[in-house]
Formats: sequence, C-alpha cells, structure tokens
Amino acid sequence: MKDTFYLNISTADDLGIGLFKYFLYPYEKFLITNYSLAQILGFSSKRDLKKVKLKDLFLNFEDKQEFLKILRRDGKVKFFETLFKGKDSQPLWVAITASRIISPNSEEYVEGIIENISSHKEMEENLSLERDFMQGLLDNIPDIIYFKDRQNRIIKVNKFYAQGVGLKPDEIVGKTDLDFFPYEQAKKMMEDDNYVIESAEAIVGKIERTLLPDGTWNQVITTKIPMYDKAGKIIGTMGITRDMTAYANLERERLSMLINALTVLGKALEMRDPYTFSHTRHVATIAEAIGKELGWRENQLLGIRLAGELHDLGKIGIPLDILNKPGKLSDLEYTFIQEHVQKCYNLIKDIEFPFPLADCIYQHHERLDGSGYPQKLKGDSILLEARILAISDVLEAMTNHRPYREALGLKKATRELQGGRGSKYDSKIVEIVFNLINKNGGSAFWVAS
Ligand SMILES: [Fe+2]
Ligand SMILES: [Fe+2]
Repeated sequence: MKDTFYLNISTADDLGIGLFKYFLYPYEKFLITNYSLAQILGFSSKRDLKKVKLKDLFLNFEDKQEFLKILRRDGKVKFFETLFKGKDSQPLWVAITASRIISPNSEEYVEGIIENISSHKEMEENLSLERDFMQGLLDNIPDIIYFKDRQNRIIKVNKFYAQGVGLKPDEIVGKTDLDFFPYEQAKKMMEDDNYVIESAEAIVGKIERTLLPDGTWNQVITTKIPMYDKAGKIIGTMGITRDMTAYANLERERLSMLINALTVLGKALEMRDPYTFSHTRHVATIAEAIGKELGWRENQLLGIRLAGELHDLGKIGIPLDILNKPGKLSDLEYTFIQEHVQKCYNLIKDIEFPFPLADCIYQHHERLDGSGYPQKLKGDSILLEARILAISDVLEAMTNHRPYREALGLKKATRELQGGRGSKYDSKIVEIVFNLINKNGGSAFWVAS
C-alpha cells in the first residue's frame, strides 16, 4: 500500500484546512467537520459549528446564491473566494472547494474543504493598493512617463504620453518611437535609450525640440534612467519628459524684449555715426550666416546676430572727430578707438543673456596668434563666437568705405583672411566664409543685391 495516501481529518487539522460534509437537502446541517474548520470560523468546538447552517456563514447573500448556482450547475466548485462571518461576525476571507453528491434517494450533500485566505487576500489588497497608488501617481503627474525594454519597445506609458500621441495607453505597448515621431528624431531618442542601457548612466535634463504627431513643435526636457531587475541586470529604460514649450515661449518673449531694447542702443549709435550702423548690420548678417552653416539653433543665431549689431556700440563714447577723422590716426587716437571694446563690455556686461554676448564682443578684436587686443588672448582661449565676429568684422570693414579710405574690395579682404588663415583667423570659419562667397557667385553675400 505504499503508493496510497489518505488526507484524513487529523492531517487536515495539522495543515489548518477545514473539512466538511454538509447535508443540503431536504434539511440543512453539518454532518462532519474537523477541528480546523471550527477554528477557522471562530467556534470553540465542532459541536458549536454543527449548530449553524452553511448558508448563514456567507456574509453576502449574492455570494451564497452564486456558490449554490455553480455547485448545482457543475457538480463542483473550485476555490470559490467569499467572505464568511468569522469570529464575532468579523468578515473573514475563505476559499471553498467542494463537490455535490446526490444519494440514490435524491438527498443532496456537499463535501469539501474551506481554507482561510485572509492573509493571502490582505497581501493581494496591499499589492493592488500599491499598484493603484503607482498608477495614480503616474497618471496624475503632468509629465510624459514611459518604460521601455532593451529593444526600445514600450512596456508602459502614463496617461499624458497616451494623450500626446492620441492613443490609449494599452495601444502603445510594444511600439517604438519610430511609430510616433519622424525617423531622424526617433533615431536620436532611441540612441539615447541605448546609451543609457549600455553605459548604465542616466541622461539628465536634456533639452530638445520634438515634432508632435499633430505637426506642432514643442520644447521638452527629458531625463532617462536605466531600469534594473532583481538580479541587477539592466532590463530597459525609464524616461520622464516635461513639456517646456510655455516656458520656452516666455523665455523667447523676454529675449525679444531685451533685443528690442538693445536695438534702440544701436539706433542711437546710428544717429551719431551712420557708417558704424551699416557696418554693424552687415557684420550681424555675416556672423549669422556663419552660425547657420555651423548648424546653430535659433537662440544662438539670435545671439550672434545681436553681437554683430552691438559689437561697436562702445564707439558711442568716442569723440566723433577721432571716429571720423580722415587720414592716419595718431597712436593716442588709435588707443582711444581701441577702448570701444571695453566701453561696450561695460555697457552690456550685466545683462542676463543665454549667450556670451558681452564676452564675445569684448574679444572681437583678439587674434589667434595673440596679436589682437585688449587681452592679447590666443587660440582656443578666444570664444568661437568671438572668432566668428572677428572674421565678419574684418570682411565687412575692408569691403566698406571708411572716412580715411575708400573700400578696399572683396578681393583684398579675402586675401587678408587667406593670409591670416590659421594664424590670426580661425581656419574653419574662413573656409565657411569663402564657401558662402562662392555660393553667392563670388560677391558679398551680406549686401542686398
Ligand atoms: Fe570693433
Ligand atoms: Fe567693427
């Protein structure tokens, strides 16, 4: 008999499982129960339990009906979860597994087991509470949140993400950025995810412009972090993206107000010295064109344009008879003119600007070999913006007439740049300028034809 085993009443007692046989029809009563069942239901003895009816143990009438319905329809009930009246009528979660027996003389019995599943239920409730809490948090944060696997496939998104792409959160699962964004943009986003996965390093606060499926652009700030499993292996990425468009628009408004105010200063210079104004306007156009060739963004282009327009503003503080003197300047007069750099710097150094405007202007007469002024800076210690401004300035000044000389012409100007290429002037920028002139049929691209 070694292959046979019996789960008898005492074993069930040991395991804490309640056993019962119940007479269901024609009259109701417990025929057999074990001690564990009495204990689970809060009775002090099996005898006390036998005094109650099964139907009275159900806390909810509907559950009792359902239980009997299944039992009579299927002949059995598997793990039927319901609330019983436990000790002192306290609700108690139980699971009933039972089968129905009909005797030859049409008596109806039910026998089976009853388990106390309150702790299991409590755990389940805690888990679902935690899940609801997480979901609530995800959905109420006015940011876009997403989780992706190692193949950049979306595992989960919050409500905000779904709204942005016009789908339900479930419809997004399994898709990638390629399904929602233009190819180049999606590629960049996925490259960032792959970087996070491969390097195990987060990308924090990256500012980018994205094209939305509805065709509008927005400015966002994104943070991506690696996601780990229990074993510490990276299983994907989590990202949070905040829409900064409103803020960016505000910043742009602030900037344009600032620029308007600064342009007034330029106008003041023009009233005093018309030559300087056309010069600065041209320098601005050249510098902006170079910036565009370098792939600069809107705000940087605005900055370099403004730097061009304001770079000689300091001349406002130089006597007109020196500024417009025909013929050669004395050393003293030349030193005086050089001061326009410092004067301009002093005028604008305290203005908060998302571009090194004051420093760039301060350095526009510096040369790579240290032969410039006022600080005699060399090489890379000169800002790229200032190197652009310097070349734009030389090009314009040589092709424009001056009080003390006629215009020298574009040929002489390009010869000057070619001669100082790499020594005084940034080689790459000179090349860009030459390309721009060539593209314009060999003439000055900054003068309206
Ligand atoms: Fe200057
Ligand atoms: Fe200038």
